[in-house]
Amino acid sequence: MTRAEPRLQRKLLSWLLGPLMLLLVLDTVAAYWTSQRFVNIAYDRALHEIAREIVLHVKAGSPQPRLELSQTAADILLMDADDRLFFRVDAGNGALLGGDDGLPPPSATPVHGRGSSNGNGNARFFESTLRGEPVRMVSARMPIDETAGAPVVHVQVAETLNKRSRLAWEVVASVVLPQLLLIVMAAMVVWLGVSRGLDPLKRLRHAVSDRSHLDLSPIDTHDVPGEVRPLVDEVNDLMARLGRTFDFQNRFVADAAHQLKTPVSGLKAQIELALRENDPDRVRHSLAQLYLSADRLSRLVRQLLSLARNEPGALDTVQLQPLDLNAFALEVSMEWVPHAIKRDIDLGFEGVEHPLVIDADRDRLRELINNLIDNAIRYSESGGRVTVRVAIAADGQYGLAISDDGPSIPVAERQRIFERFHRLLGTHEDGSGLGLAIVSEIATLHGARISLEEDVDGVGNTFSVFFPPRRDGGAAP
Ligand SMILES: Nc1ncnc2c1ncn2[C@@H]1O[C@H](COP(=O)(O)OP(=O)(O)O)[C@@H](O)[C@H]1O
Ligand SMILES: [Mg+2]
Repeated sequence: MTRAEPRLQRKLLSWLLGPLMLLLVLDTVAAYWTSQRFVNIAYDRALHEIAREIVLHVKAGSPQPRLELSQTAADILLMDADDRLFFRVDAGNGALLGGDDGLPPPSATPVHGRGSSNGNGNARFFESTLRGEPVRMVSARMPIDETAGAPVVHVQVAETLNKRSRLAWEVVASVVLPQLLLIVMAAMVVWLGVSRGLDPLKRLRHAVSDRSHLDLSPIDTHDVPGEVRPLVDEVNDLMARLGRTFDFQNRFVADAAHQLKTPVSGLKAQIELALRENDPDRVRHSLAQLYLSADRLSRLVRQLLSLARNEPGALDTVQLQPLDLNAFALEVSMEWVPHAIKRDIDLGFEGVEHPLVIDADRDRLRELINNLIDNAIRYSESGGRVTVRVAIAADGQYGLAISDDGPSIPVAERQRIFERFHRLLGTHEDGSGLGLAIVSEIATLHGARISLEEDVDGVGNTFSVFFPPRRDGGAAP
């Protein structure tokens, strides 16, 4: 994260500079090619002019024309500040009339190849080499004067390439240098612009790195660029979820410590009392009391653990499998029959004829049903009736309802009894107030909805849980 900006900056620059440099190279090649062409057009004309001047010095004669060119005149004609010039004149049949015989005879000069006429009649211009040096050469046949039938001679003039290539490069430089300057300036602008543009990201980084690990408040998004905003929103969302989990854990730890303190102190006091007893009968009685207390404590610990296991964040670890609610509710209810008989409660089951398949976690669903039946039996008067019902609700959801004959729960309390540790005033039965909180958590994990109403027969309560049917409505497993 620390080196993120320079990397982005460098990447942007290379994306920009790579293609621009390639363009510059192509442009240089094209500029060189064009300038060379125009330079040749200009200087070839001068070369042709020299050829014509030389021919003016050829006089008619017999058996062949003569070249009458003094050394001084030749020097003047061939003088040039930058280049060396050479010429050769022959009678048209290969017989040398004058000039430098180092130049190849016309018969040896290429007819094709890199030559051109450059708009100068039958003159041809081409590149060649003369004594190892590259030269530009003109080769032309010209009559020695304007009279008809005047003899025709063949003249060649060659010139080294110094001024041509210098001029060509000067043209290229004048085209390419401003472009190079422009590219350098563009690179600087991009570099500065990007680093300015990345400033908000730098601030964002500090906003995150400077905060305490306990601070889960959302990151301020008003200064954040639009591109990163979804990311920051996601991070904020994650922190909010983390915050809720932390809250839950903290509350849970505090509640658990608080709830465990009293029974553990009670247990210690009872043990101290028992230790002071000498009478074996009373010791036995104290031990029996201790056993009951330990049993209650172990139930509390079990419920606390269950609460922690089923907290909302557990959703990711729950594996829901297809399960027939009808058969499963019957199976769990049957397990309660001995207990119900002991308490003189008439436990009944009303199901449907066919399987009702839902997505459920077997162990958790069992815990949910157990808690509801346990409450129904626990809070009903002996001789009462408890009925477990499975049916399809009007909205197509699969309903599981447990009705009892216990004391009616006041409407004002129907929401609150699902909170942790909440118990109705005047409840004499043993309990921790966690059972319905666990039921509510497990229902949430299954995407189910709970309702609590007065029993249809007017006595007692009905706790209903509505499960969404399995998506493909598949058959029972
Ligand atoms: N079937 C019921 N009939 C009457 N009251 C009930 C019933 N179920 C729950 N309650 C009331 O709701 C409270 C919370 O229940 P629960 O969360 O299971 O905790 P616990 O049973 O440990 O007290 C109980 O203390 C009781 O007062
Ligand atoms: Mg209970």
